Amino acid sequence: MLLGVNIDHVATLRNARGGFEPDPIHAAQICEESGATSITAHLREDRRHIKDQDVRALKKVLKVNLNLEMAVTDEMQKIALEIKPHSVCLVPEKRQEVTTEGGLDVAGQLNKVTNFVAPLVEAGILVSLFIDADEAQIRAAAKTGAQFIELHTGQYSHAFATPDEQEEFEKLREASRLAHALGLKVNAGHGLNYENVGRMREIDDLYELNIGHSIISRAVFTGLSQAVKDMSNLVK
Ligand code: PXP
Repeated sequence: MLLGVNIDHVATLRNARGGFEPDPIHAAQICEESGATSITAHLREDRRHIKDQDVRALKKVLKVNLNLEMAVTDEMQKIALEIKPHSVCLVPEKRQEVTTEGGLDVAGQLNKVTNFVAPLVEAGILVSLFIDADEAQIRAAAKTGAQFIELHTGQYSHAFATPDEQEEFEKLREASRLAHALGLKVNAGHGLNYENVGRMREIDDLYELNIGHSIISRAVFTGLSQAVKDMSNLVK
């Protein structure tokens, strides 16, 4: 199983001061050197974290794959076709949400998604659809021409260590089985952390996990001591 790292939170921190620090591109390079097999950046409509120039810079400097997360809009399709990331992951997007809340409704807009996917695939970009572990969504995803789905693990993550964990886990396992049977490759992500990620290995043939929040959160604590020591040496 491969690990994709989402670096949006680094950009959020940078934007809080409106300057250049911390640089998400540098962060992506550290992720790359440390074993990430891809870097995910979500270019949101409101550009609240990742900016257009970040995506361009990532495409230029990364040796590993760039996965561009984006909404199903003409603007995003144009950007993807111009920048040509290795892959795109299509997500639903609401302005008010703090993070992507649910999976994309592929079944309810099959024609729209299919027409959206076609030019991306034509341009050699791998397309993944971020969907819930739901049979109708998986069957619809298999008809769009997308090569991948990314299963939304938010419900499982939320239910972890509660009586609902097993049920949520089984939904993911069944969804993955069905998707593979329909010829799709399967990624997973959202809410995965150092406690709940282990069970993902129990699901056969998951290709890649995409993880952001827990990794960047942990990095604060694994890096804070050194950061204070470095500053303390300068101040002494
Ligand atoms: N996959 C998708 C499609 C997402 O939207 C997100 C959140 O940006 C993630 C994975 C990563 O989720 P988390 O930050 O909770 O690890």
